[in-house]
Amino acid sequence: MTDPDRLTGKMIVVDHKLLADFEDRLDPAFPEKSGIQPTILGYGEISSSFVIEQMPDIAFKRMPPFPGRDAAEEYRRIVDIYCRHLKEDCGVKVLPHTTHRIENRFGEHIVYVAQPRLEAETIGNLRLKQKDFRYMAAMVARVADRILAVGRKNRDGFGLSIGIDGQISNWCFLGEASALEEPLYFDITTPLFRVNGSEQLDIRVFLKSIPSGLVWLVKWKFLQEILDRYYDTRQVLIDLAANFHKEGRQDMIDEAIAVINGRVERVGLTPPVASLTRDEVDSYYKNDAFIWALLLSLRRADRFICTRLLRRRYNFILPGKIER
Ligand SMILES: Nc1ncnc2c1ncn2[C@@H]1O[C@H](COP(=O)(O)OP(=O)(O)OP(=O)(O)O)[C@@H](O)[C@H]1O
Ligand SMILES: [Mg+2]
Repeated sequence: MTDPDRLTGKMIVVDHKLLADFEDRLDPAFPEKSGIQPTILGYGEISSSFVIEQMPDIAFKRMPPFPGRDAAEEYRRIVDIYCRHLKEDCGVKVLPHTTHRIENRFGEHIVYVAQPRLEAETIGNLRLKQKDFRYMAAMVARVADRILAVGRKNRDGFGLSIGIDGQISNWCFLGEASALEEPLYFDITTPLFRVNGSEQLDIRVFLKSIPSGLVWLVKWKFLQEILDRYYDTRQVLIDLAANFHKEGRQDMIDEAIAVINGRVERVGLTPPVASLTRDEVDSYYKNDAFIWALLLSLRRADRFICTRLLRRRYNFILPGKIER
């Protein structure tokens, strides 16, 4: 079994030269055609995590290109600060990381985030698929407590708000249901936090993978909604339960809601968080699945136009097929 302290204290030794070589030979539109082929570990909504054969213990995430060196350095700084806030202000155990800026042969500034590679079966969504109700309840209780700790921090009035994506697929769980370790959070590449209401991450970079003609639509219709809900404790909790749909565990949703409501009541935030209902969890999922599926298909269409029709370089590793 993996020892959690081995993970939190783990050294991440990245061969920078090899990573730069990987970047220069990468075909982001068709990663399987790259000079050094990555092995995909998992798809998120935004990007993919992968392993490079020569560094098998490290999971890499490649960020969309930054407009310059300063923007890339600023992103690295924001990721570090975000993790520090989660750990020190909210008591969230965060998987260690390092970040690496590479100027590739096109003169683009690319940032890679590296983390220890986790065993697939320790990641929440696989646990959810393989384990029983008791294990699920233990995981959800732990995660809900951390989400509520973030909520408490955001309510303390000192001007700092922290966003978190509490979905089960963003946490690593070690130990059995009766002695579950504190979960490790690893989805740190969209470091959302606000100081006196102002978003510290420059989200324009993340909008780049959306076809330019449609950025206005996304900005106008969805962006604020998507961002705001990571700061809203109740919405983050709804999202945690709603994603059981995506993971094929509809059978566990009622029980998950009951566990979450139990924790909400016990922790008692002020102002209080109202209990979750099954109806709102289900309708939230329908809306959420629609938004992400729409965004992904827009990005895929853009990739097609770019690579097949215009024969231009396409610079994003898009998620593959996502089962919903
Ligand atoms: N350190 C790791 N070791 C092994 N697998 C990982 C690791 N980090 C991520 N993964 C896999 O990749 C998936 C996506 O990773 P992550 O959640 O960090 O990316 P994301 O694109 O930011 O996702 P999101 O859609 O939640 O924003 C994870 O659910 C997991 O399956
Ligand atoms: Mg994720």
